[in-house]
Amino acid sequence: SDLINVAIDGPAGAGKSTVARMVAAQLGYVYVDTGSMYRAVTLGAQRQGLAADDEERLTQFMKSLDIVLKPGANGQFVYMNGEDVTSLIRTREVTGAVSHYAASGIVREVLGVMQRNMALRKGIVMDGRDIGTHVLPDAELKVFLTASVKERALRRFKELGQEAVVTLQQLQEEIAERDRLDEQRELAPLLKASDAIELDSSDMTIDEVVDAIVKMSRTKL
Ligand code: C5P
Repeated sequence: SDLINVAIDGPAGAGKSTVARMVAAQLGYVYVDTGSMYRAVTLGAQRQGLAADDEERLTQFMKSLDIVLKPGANGQFVYMNGEDVTSLIRTREVTGAVSHYAASGIVREVLGVMQRNMALRKGIVMDGRDIGTHVLPDAELKVFLTASVKERALRRFKELGQEAVVTLQQLQEEIAERDRLDEQRELAPLLKASDAIELDSSDMTIDEVVDAIVKMSRTKL
């Protein structure tokens, strides 16, 4: 039967990427992590010393920017102007600055066009902050995935394991601050679309969340 597009939005650390990747695998769809694109922009802009509010220079920068996403076994590879930046975009330096660059009009406009083009032929599971509200307002299924700040920080802390150079408290504050910036920005803020189904994953396992979304997807096919 027909292919659909699935939009998964929600705050930082709600498990969107993991869930979206697993849902895509089960449906045989392509997974697109839009956060990775904002991260790549942030890395590139930081390298060139561009400020997040320098719309003029960011416009020049965005013109020369090429981002390619390639699906891999354990996630998605990200290439910026031919360079594999998959792990470079996960540093705390990038994470701490990305919400500022994501507030830029030109950054959102250029990435939004790229994202809509990726979804034209459908069969996409796309995760982000504004997919259901702005990028793919016609997506057949929209999920707003949440979890308490405490639970999200705890998950991230466990993920970091022995590499953790931050305390749980610090992580909780960083996540809350990123949510605040994403929710309060002027352009395409983090917001549940009116027709999105909200899933609070605080007391759910990843498999339970994935099953629920796959089931909802199948009812739309
Ligand atoms: O999903 P991830 O946490 O990697 O996203 C990093 C940042 O990119 C978010 O905190 C947000 O500022 C920005 N973002 C966005 N719109 C999206 C996806 C991500 O503004 N669709």
